[in-house]
Amino acid sequence: MKTYLKILATGISLPEKVLCNADLERMVETSDDWILTRTGIRERRITEKEVATSDLGADAGRMALASAGKNPEDVDLIMVATATGDQMFPSTACIVQAKLGAVNATAFDISAACSGFLYCLTVAYSLLSSGVYRNALIIGAETLSKITDYSDRSTCVLFGDGAGAMFVELGNDGKGMFASHLGSDGSYASLLNLPAGGSRMPASQETVANGQHYIKMNGNELFKVAVRSMEEAARRTVDKAELDTDEIDLLIPHQANIRIINSLRKRLDIEKERVYVNIERFGNTSAASVPIAYHEARTAKVFDKNSNILLVAFGGGITWGGVLIRG
Ligand code: ACO
Repeated sequence: MKTYLKILATGISLPEKVLCNADLERMVETSDDWILTRTGIRERRITEKEVATSDLGADAGRMALASAGKNPEDVDLIMVATATGDQMFPSTACIVQAKLGAVNATAFDISAACSGFLYCLTVAYSLLSSGVYRNALIIGAETLSKITDYSDRSTCVLFGDGAGAMFVELGNDGKGMFASHLGSDGSYASLLNLPAGGSRMPASQETVANGQHYIKMNGNELFKVAVRSMEEAARRTVDKAELDTDEIDLLIPHQANIRIINSLRKRLDIEKERVYVNIERFGNTSAASVPIAYHEARTAKVFDKNSNILLVAFGGGITWGGVLIRG
């Protein structure tokens, strides 16, 4: 009998502080109109100085556990998808584990940038299906504001902070995740990266002076690769699920840019009403964007328990992925 990865509960955490386009107009040479028409973003959330990725991740995880009626000790596995971990090591998942008191869990991070949450879902599906673990708390958490250069107008308008979480178990009642497709192409690694702070270019006074501890992005090239790879991820996932794109009730794409989302939906022939978009309010929150959007759509009852929901993401690496969920 086919097993499904049941999403028992979800949670999110978003910083209170709002950075709107008018604020950015005072920081760099840009305009509300340019940002809105080129990206679809009106505002994004930004953490206070003392808040780190694990704080948002733990809050989202706590909310998901409370909503599932589970105690931290019940959790078998914690995975955190992030590109902005608290430190190079230990993993942010281990820090989250300690914050939650999930003393029986195994914890590790997954590094796949904006596709990270879909990588986590797929790994959880495999580890639970093989019987190694019974349940998992999956978290996508980012504080991109910490690695954003607020004097670079080509990147600083795009990113925001936040976290989303899911508590999952296996089930066989036909509800939950039942298909996925992941992909990567490291030959595009230079399109989006953080140059310094790793073993290739350890942090030094020089790297800081050159701003190499900030995100570097080739936006134009990334745009083209993003649309292509998200379309491939969507089509391959739908094929594996033995569905057709017109049977998709809701598409939840990674919220990178409204023009990427619109190009994708047109290529897939999915009308606007079947696409969940919240980029206007949160910007691009990388690995957190898909679980935040799924949580909002689920809470607002945008879909029901028989809906086919297609999650699609794309990120630095480059990486891409699609996941199909029923209900
Ligand atoms: N305000 C005003 N003007 C700007 C701004 C700004 N914030 N940023 C760039 N410009 C200028 C440029 O300097 C350029 O000026 P020029 O013509 O005088 O040289 C002009 O606007 C056009 O610049 P482009 O880069 O061609 O603008 P484009 O339409 O491609 O939009 C953007 C740029 C929004 C970055 C777009 O390329 C994009 O969204 N790419 C994908 C990026 C992305 O999604 N990244 C993350 C994906 S992966 C992940 O989520 C981790």
